[in-house]
Amino acid sequence: MAIPQHPDSLIQVTDWIRSRRTIKPVDMDCERPLDRELVNHLLENACWAPTHGMTEPWRFLVYAEDARKVLATTLQDLYTATTPEENYRPDKFAKLGTQPLLAPVAIAICMARDVTGKIAEIEEIEAVACAVQNLHLSASAIGLGGFWSTSPVLETKVANESLKLNANERCLGLFYLGWPKPGLAWPKSTRSPLESKVTWL
Ligand SMILES: Cc1cc2nc3c(=O)[nH]c(=O)nc-3n(C[C@H](O)[C@H](O)[C@H](O)COP(=O)(O)O)c2cc1C
Repeated sequence: MAIPQHPDSLIQVTDWIRSRRTIKPVDMDCERPLDRELVNHLLENACWAPTHGMTEPWRFLVYAEDARKVLATTLQDLYTATTPEENYRPDKFAKLGTQPLLAPVAIAICMARDVTGKIAEIEEIEAVACAVQNLHLSASAIGLGGFWSTSPVLETKVANESLKLNANERCLGLFYLGWPKPGLAWPKSTRSPLESKVTWL
């Protein structure tokens, strides 16, 4: 394969990176289904992320159609089981039950640590984050909304049991996918100046 030359390829990739946006389930068209082949294509792109030692630590649990109801109930049960009474918020409980149904697809983003332990856990998590970025960039490139949602309830032992994860696995959040509601303007964002983050030595 020929190595693409810039500037055209650089302009293209810059556009994809800078126009990638978070679109939350509330702004997704839950009536418009997502093709399974398309979702698998996006996940295949996710799997092309860098991986130290080729451990490929990403695991994806895809909840679509009625499975989303199971996920919603699971999230609510986890919230009830893990939240001390004084911190319990009915609005939070309600949101956990409705959010998975607002998007056509919710994906539990999981990390499976290599059982030999040769790669540090932080590096396996970093690799999964790279995979999520591939997924999100691929989605945005075709105008599909994506949202990575993290929650303390997913970082618990009970969550591992509910999601049927193995002992070496962790859930790093949920990634929602869905077409934006008709008429929704693609969100804009900004980043602070590069000078505040880069030091050349
Ligand atoms: C690891 C990770 C976890 C995130 N978790 C949440 C979350 O729980 N709730 C939320 O509103 N946004 C969450 N976000 C999305 C950010 O809010 C979003 O990326 C940020 O506002 C910048 O918007 P953009 O993605 O459109 O550039 C998360 C992003 C990352 C990378």
